[in-house]
Amino acid sequence: MLKVFAIVGTRPEAIKMAPVIKELHCRKHEVDVRVVSTGQHRQMLDQALLPFGIQPDLELSTMRPSQTLAGLTAAVLTELDREILKEKPDWILAQGDTTSVMAASLVAFYRSVRFGHVEAGLRTGNLAQPFPEELNRRIADLVASLYFAPTDKSKENLLREGVSEEKILVTGNTVVDALMAVAELPFDRHNSVLRSITRGVTMVLITAHRRESFGQPFREICEAIRDLAQRFPDVVFLYPVHLNPEVRRPVQEILANTFNIILSEPLEYLEMVHVMKEASLVLTDSGGIQEEAPTFGVPVLVMRTTTERPEGVEAGFVELVGNSRNEIVNRASLILGKGCPRRTGANPYGDGSAAKRIVDAVLSRTKP
Ligand code: UD1
Ligand code: UDP
Repeated sequence: MLKVFAIVGTRPEAIKMAPVIKELHCRKHEVDVRVVSTGQHRQMLDQALLPFGIQPDLELSTMRPSQTLAGLTAAVLTELDREILKEKPDWILAQGDTTSVMAASLVAFYRSVRFGHVEAGLRTGNLAQPFPEELNRRIADLVASLYFAPTDKSKENLLREGVSEEKILVTGNTVVDALMAVAELPFDRHNSVLRSITRGVTMVLITAHRRESFGQPFREICEAIRDLAQRFPDVVFLYPVHLNPEVRRPVQEILANTFNIILSEPLEYLEMVHVMKEASLVLTDSGGIQEEAPTFGVPVLVMRTTTERPEGVEAGFVELVGNSRNEIVNRASLILGKGCPRRTGANPYGDGSAAKRIVDAVLSRTKP
């Protein structure tokens, strides 16, 4: 029986790997799947896995408060290597561009285990943005045996770097599978963060956590949000704050105590999906949210200067606004002033069947 390690380390990996893990579980007569948590995120990983009913089979314990990239990388490399030596998987599957994924790809390479990269081929072309994710995904794409590119553009990026075409499969992004599955689940609005927000009121959803913004650019993002809240007193600004202390400190300092800003703990994914559905506008630096919001037609302003997800911009769902205070305020004011018209069209990131394509490919490429 084929043994597959499915790696999850952080919140977005949990959400985007969940459909792949579910699909692998459906093929249990062919595959022995081990869900391996690197533990890069402790609380946020468990929270993200919750609606999918997935529990890790192996749990490493790598997270430290305010961890360094080197310390985390060293811990994941060492602990994952030990498990791979013990369990001898045939495949390692990992998604995206976090430290967990980069380290998993390196260990796979060192131990000559086949590595399947879910969400392969995303590029900004700038190693410093996002930092360190652009390097992480390039490393993963150097060692992969199979590339699951979400879109034609990500496939083109891989071809341009010399990856041979037969190793690339365009699958769509598994986040669309996850979103569609979770949107079906029962949801109690009165038992959620939405209970204090009158239905129909204009609501702006905010998330921001990128490392390359830490320091002054991140403060500018916060100041822009405070300016907007003062300029639009009838609008509710809801910001579920990431657990990273580098994020929480400036957010608390600049945004607490403004009556129309709600700072909440990270939301459970089911809650997040419903908040996104009700939002009039999204301000974010997240990758995953750029891919999810088009399903609901919610306009998105990305508070970054580059994106590895040009499809949403080209389809008119997403605008890049950078991280300067004035630019964020001006661009958001423009949309709020027009009543935040919904965007129309199909989500360019997938059709909800990515996980099935991925698992089919892993199985068919491994059959004798
Ligand atoms: C990581 C990923 C980033 C991804 C993001 C998703 C890297 C280098 N960065 O960034 O690509 O977009 O996750 O959210 O892989 N913390 C907790 N509890 C948690 C999670 C985090 O307390 O459940 C705190 C800890 O103090 C931890 C810090 O946040 O040290 C930073 O976590 P880390 O995973 O290093 O970086 P993120 O900024 O979360
Ligand atoms: N998300 C969530 N709760 C939150 C914030 C985000 O469930 O409070 C979800 C979001 O819908 C998306 C994913 O987490 O699916 C994005 O994670 P994050 O922003 O941490 O990482 P990124 O996408 O930037 O890598």
